[in-house]
Amino acid sequence: MTHPVKRRDFVAMLSAAIAWSGFPFRSLLAQNEKAGDRNVEGEQPHREQPAPPSENQNVLPDDLKSYALLSLVLGRISDRSVTVSAVSQEAREGYFEYGLTSGNYSDKSKIIDLPRGQPVEVVLRDLKPDTQYFYRLNSRLKGGADYSHGEECRFHTQRSPGSHFRFAVQGDSHPERPQMHDPGLYARTLRNISMGNPDFLVCMGDDFSVAKLRTIDDETLKQPYTLQRPFLGLAARSAPLFLLNGNHEQASLFNFNQTDIRHEVAVGAQKARNLYYPTPTPDGFYSGNEHPLQSIGSLRDYYAWTWGDALFVILDNYWHSPTLVDSGFGERGGNGGRGGGHGKGLRQGQGHQQEAEDTKVAKSEQGRKQSGGHGNRDLWDVTMGDEQYQWFRKTLEQSTAKFKFVFAHHVLGTNRGGVDVSDLYEWGGHDRQGNWVFPEHRPGWELPVHQLMVKHGVTIFFQGHDHLFAKQERDGIIYQEVPMPADQFYRAWNIEHYGSGVRLPNSGHLEVSVSPHEVKVDYIASFLPKDETSLKRTGDLLHSYSVKPNATHA
Ligand SMILES: [Fe+2]
Repeated sequence: MTHPVKRRDFVAMLSAAIAWSGFPFRSLLAQNEKAGDRNVEGEQPHREQPAPPSENQNVLPDDLKSYALLSLVLGRISDRSVTVSAVSQEAREGYFEYGLTSGNYSDKSKIIDLPRGQPVEVVLRDLKPDTQYFYRLNSRLKGGADYSHGEECRFHTQRSPGSHFRFAVQGDSHPERPQMHDPGLYARTLRNISMGNPDFLVCMGDDFSVAKLRTIDDETLKQPYTLQRPFLGLAARSAPLFLLNGNHEQASLFNFNQTDIRHEVAVGAQKARNLYYPTPTPDGFYSGNEHPLQSIGSLRDYYAWTWGDALFVILDNYWHSPTLVDSGFGERGGNGGRGGGHGKGLRQGQGHQQEAEDTKVAKSEQGRKQSGGHGNRDLWDVTMGDEQYQWFRKTLEQSTAKFKFVFAHHVLGTNRGGVDVSDLYEWGGHDRQGNWVFPEHRPGWELPVHQLMVKHGVTIFFQGHDHLFAKQERDGIIYQEVPMPADQFYRAWNIEHYGSGVRLPNSGHLEVSVSPHEVKVDYIASFLPKDETSLKRTGDLLHSYSVKPNATHA
């Protein structure tokens, strides 16, 4: 279900408030019209534009600044509880009140301290299953007089089988890259997500890049996570947030295993994520990674839960591969070693080399196609790991859900494309020459990942990484590449790696409606006010499709 009229009314108001003029207009709509809401064939890849200077980068629009002063993010929603994470930019104290009716709150939490800049989690317990709740945070300056009432937010506890509900998905937000991220556009997408009233929001990774950090320590590694708080809070204060790591988070086993600064990056990044965002740990409602890692504790990297008639599975591409999966941190690690630590720490400016590294990876991908390798890496060494695989197999095997949704940053966590590369390595069991060599490379694994998903009737596999909308199908499974939420140039990155399916340019998000009989996926557009016309508005439906249980398409 979409709400174009309501959304348009809302964004019209928002448009008047957001003044954005930091980037040159580059025939964006002409390009988008070329792609339109039809398949795009043979379009040339777009080159990244040099990053223009912008004083507005990563700052909320003026009318939304209050959300930066006090941000709320929901997480770990279950049938009986929800966790609210609050970060205040000034020392405050407050309490949550909540209830079943808007404006009428029957319960309240204890008074909590909100130290300046420190995340505080409050668990609201003893809730009713499958129930809509309304809540707000009432707070005052520490030691102050009157409490001020926060804005009313909402959440819905676990849906029962047979329910109708929606969830939202956004792709790589990349706030560190002004050439593909406009904060005003990002805010519009997130507000638009909220207008759809989804039960939760899934972010596909590359939302917390460490690429622009000039120094590395526990405090600086928190910056990508604090930067996103007010933005993600625009949606996540009413839609519990589910995160997965992308390659740019650099939270990986390969980095962890090094003896230089990369170890600190891996530890600091994952700790910061788990500190600022209430992601799930295995607890009876969620299953997942039960093996804590030294210096981090519970990774909270892969997990699964059931909601209504659907199973949701979040996979992690990076925490279980001893070999470097995608681009390395700085210039380190590109040699594809098996986790051996070399070199001395890089503390100054190393992150600025990340985008150049991406280009190198893309070029090495071209070389791989010609030579049959991936640079000098053997991608059989890239893995989700035995434990995660066996947990995934068991999770699919034991689920009786009509619909099954699987999320990972990308097939294998590296490479480009969707179904085009889904027959390779541990994902598809074949080598580059098309030989079936799976058993010798993955002894003890029942099937490659793709074939396992086919066997268990996975409905949609969602991935990010490639920065465009692409819907493909293989063996009854939809491979859905998720569009970017804030690409102000509205491009279809990496389209040349998608040889089939519906391929559309950015920006926007996916809204997925689940009913007992089918799943409907809507691609909802986001435009900057200056780029809107009578034919192209934020909230427009760019593409829509439906899927029946057992992947029989409507
Ligand atoms: Fe990305």
